[in-house]
Amino acid sequence: MASRKKLIAGNWKMNKTSADAVALVQELVGAIGRQVDVDVVVCPPFTALEGVGKVLEGSSVKLGAQNMHFEANGAYTGEISAPMLRALFATHVILGHSERRAYFGETDALVNKKLLAALKNQLRPILCVGETLAEREAGTTLKVVQTQLEAGLDGVSKELASSIIVAYEPVWAIGTGKVATTEQAQEVHGFIRGLLTKLFGEALAMRVRILYGGSMKPANAPELLAQKDIDGGLIGGASLEARSFVDLVNAAAAK
Ligand code: 13P
Repeated sequence: MASRKKLIAGNWKMNKTSADAVALVQELVGAIGRQVDVDVVVCPPFTALEGVGKVLEGSSVKLGAQNMHFEANGAYTGEISAPMLRALFATHVILGHSERRAYFGETDALVNKKLLAALKNQLRPILCVGETLAEREAGTTLKVVQTQLEAGLDGVSKELASSIIVAYEPVWAIGTGKVATTEQAQEVHGFIRGLLTKLFGEALAMRVRILYGGSMKPANAPELLAQKDIDGGLIGGASLEARSFVDLVNAAAAK
């Protein structure tokens, strides 16, 4: 089995002022700033990127954004571009989160444009895919995930494919406390690995990290992280507090 380093990413969503964000990340750096067994990324809101980035300097924790525009600059009021993120030393960007899709009308085509722009600017995209409860109940989970993944990765070259990170986030598990069972999660993760194999070949597909997201907590993480195709977590609620996030990183390090 290919050994993929586990990755724990915190998606802080629309939480924390820049001062609160700096305070949290100072605690994190104190506890896990030298963690090398697990890759750790924090994704604060745009307004806190610079402050958080300064605290992260010299640590092993990486900086990510939660969204970006696909153009480098121009008349796009309220938007932020990949070069702007790079200038703040961000290395990762979450794209296609279900909240962006549901509340801001992001389509697969738009997510794809953003993903290609991220890769062009040496940002590692964390591409989010996942079904709603209605889709799961209708038995269309795998079809939905396949469409989102294939459309999101359209036009990605093999050379750049290894920079991609995929996050499977069942919408019904996000912020609900309702976590997918290990069987449900592993089934979709294995399916995603199969799709990546078809797109990019086995060697590459075995190197891509596939994260699980949706009510991941220190209590349920060890079992999820033990699944063969679950390579880490994209954490919402439990990333907003140092203790639970550190526990998640430690759970990943123990695998
Ligand atoms: P929760 O961990 O709060 O369920 O959020 C998951 C998520 O959406 C991460 O992107």
